[in-house]
Amino acid sequence: MIGADMLARSFRTAVCDIDFEWPTVNLLDACRQYGLEIDDVAYLAANENPYGPSPKALAAAAESLSLARVYPSPSLRYDELRNEYAEVRDALAAYCGVPADMVMPGPGSETVLRYVTQVFVDPGDEIVTAPESYSGHPWACQIMAADVRYVPLRDYRFDIDAFLATVSDRTKMVWLCSPNNPTGTIITDEELRRLVANVPASTVIVCDQAYQELVDDPSWGDATQLLLEGHRNVVVLRTMSKAFGLAGLRMGHAIADPEVCSLIDRIREPYYISGPSCAATLAALDDLDWCREVVRKLQAGRRWVTQQLTELGCTVVPSQCNFVLADTGVAAGVMYDRLLRRGVVVRPGDIWGYDTHLRISIGTDEENRRLVAAMAAALAE
Ligand SMILES: Cc1ncc(COP(=O)(O)O)c(C=O)c1O
Repeated sequence: MIGADMLARSFRTAVCDIDFEWPTVNLLDACRQYGLEIDDVAYLAANENPYGPSPKALAAAAESLSLARVYPSPSLRYDELRNEYAEVRDALAAYCGVPADMVMPGPGSETVLRYVTQVFVDPGDEIVTAPESYSGHPWACQIMAADVRYVPLRDYRFDIDAFLATVSDRTKMVWLCSPNNPTGTIITDEELRRLVANVPASTVIVCDQAYQELVDDPSWGDATQLLLEGHRNVVVLRTMSKAFGLAGLRMGHAIADPEVCSLIDRIREPYYISGPSCAATLAALDDLDWCREVVRKLQAGRRWVTQQLTELGCTVVPSQCNFVLADTGVAAGVMYDRLLRRGVVVRPGDIWGYDTHLRISIGTDEENRRLVAAMAAALAE
């Protein structure tokens, strides 16, 4: 085609260099391939919350649809009439125990983390992260043409000493995830404080705490606390997608120094959070009892699945999330197929270098029982 090469010359090298594939499973394709009905499939591949959001959140979102023809509020200014966007920011701030000017909401934490990179990362900046962590972090940095350095986990946990040995004055940003996806492991308060105390104050430490609500280990370290203690270089990421069950409505936020928040406010799109997302978030944060009950069920499910898979001979990494990483001893792709044939969809661990592991989301009690039965049969094949 005439001009095709000329066009390719204009592509950004950083974007062309991204080694990219959308993660595994398309549920519909899997159903077609294996002759399954969607309702017969236990979809345990994306760490969604099987109990969904508070019914009050769904009702509020539905009600807000009557305003679908108008744009949502673009502004966070308080000197204007109240608007749902500012209300969401206030509600998230109250929920997290921080001042409102330290909160920056967005359509999912994935989008917010891209804004964070746009605020800080220049081409060639050094970024330090772990290869066995959330792929959205290095991906966002690669789009900004960063120089990404990987420090492997050790025994499925962030290796704080190795991170400290790698970080230098050149390091613009460090990415942490606690609890970590895909291992479910935490960074303790002691480890977090040691890291923050020993990196240059100009190095931004982003701590993704998407699964924070699921934590019941008292040694877990909350990066928000360090930010509130005056470590202005700490940025925390939170989401409504997990414990609050609002993955489909897209709402997440950064907790950061007010100056960082105002810089994000400068680059975000004007109408980037929908009215139904705002309405659902406000109602969900007003119904914390629902969330607490869901978390209790997910934690119980996590304990049960861990115990059952261990009894089947798997090595299960102790998890603080709504998923577990299990080493079955069989190649991940093989086990993935065997489970898929039985209508159970999980995430193979080989994408993180865990070649015999599966990452399995915690489902309803029925889905969990189905998973364990399918796993027993798959291991016996
Ligand atoms: C660690 C982590 N961060 C961020 C996200 C994205 O969350 P959101 O739905 O808020 O974009 C996920 C989703 O699985 C996650 O596991």
